[in-house]
Amino acid sequence: MDILQMTQKLKGVLKEKRFIHSVNVSKTAAEIAHLFNVDPKKAEIAGLLHDCAKNFDKEVMRDIIIKNNLSKDEIILSEPALYHAVVGEYIARTEYGISDPDILEAIFYHTIGCGDMKPLSCVIYLADLIEPTRNWPEIEELRRLTYEDVNLALIRAFDISIIHVIGKGRAIHPNTIYGRNSFVKKVDMMKLQNLTAK
Ligand SMILES: [Fe+2]
Ligand SMILES: [Fe+2]
Repeated sequence: MDILQMTQKLKGVLKEKRFIHSVNVSKTAAEIAHLFNVDPKKAEIAGLLHDCAKNFDKEVMRDIIIKNNLSKDEIILSEPALYHAVVGEYIARTEYGISDPDILEAIFYHTIGCGDMKPLSCVIYLADLIEPTRNWPEIEELRRLTYEDVNLALIRAFDISIIHVIGKGRAIHPNTIYGRNSFVKKVDMMKLQNLTAK
């Protein structure tokens, strides 16, 4: 399946807003791929498909996870908002013909992140948050940081995600903490303190 066919198929299964978001993540991912030495074509595909299961019914997604043994993770199984990443990886494999492990991993981890994320997973994690239709208060800072210091940008992205999950009163997945910590190790401590002091 080529990218045009993927786009057509996706358009048929996603709500309009989600489809536009997916196309935007795809474009943004291709734009920022060079910051992570990632092939922009792979970023384009991963971005396009990252939410391919987002509009599936929650019960259907839970059944797919259990029947296909996609995850036994207690937090994932208890948080319907996290299903679409796990199911999305499966759907990308089985319905869109994706076999590239980097693309599949980027889809799988795009909601919770993980420790030592691969470059393409980082691209999708950030592109999902900074694509042009997103407009929360910290967005401009995150867009600027992406081009200034990718590791600081990822820490900020994890902060935004963690605060969002806390705001909803939901459980924070340990992978999200491992993910954030793995980037804390990579940055200048002074720069990080300046960032968090704001
Ligand atoms: Fe998503
Ligand atoms: Fe998304």
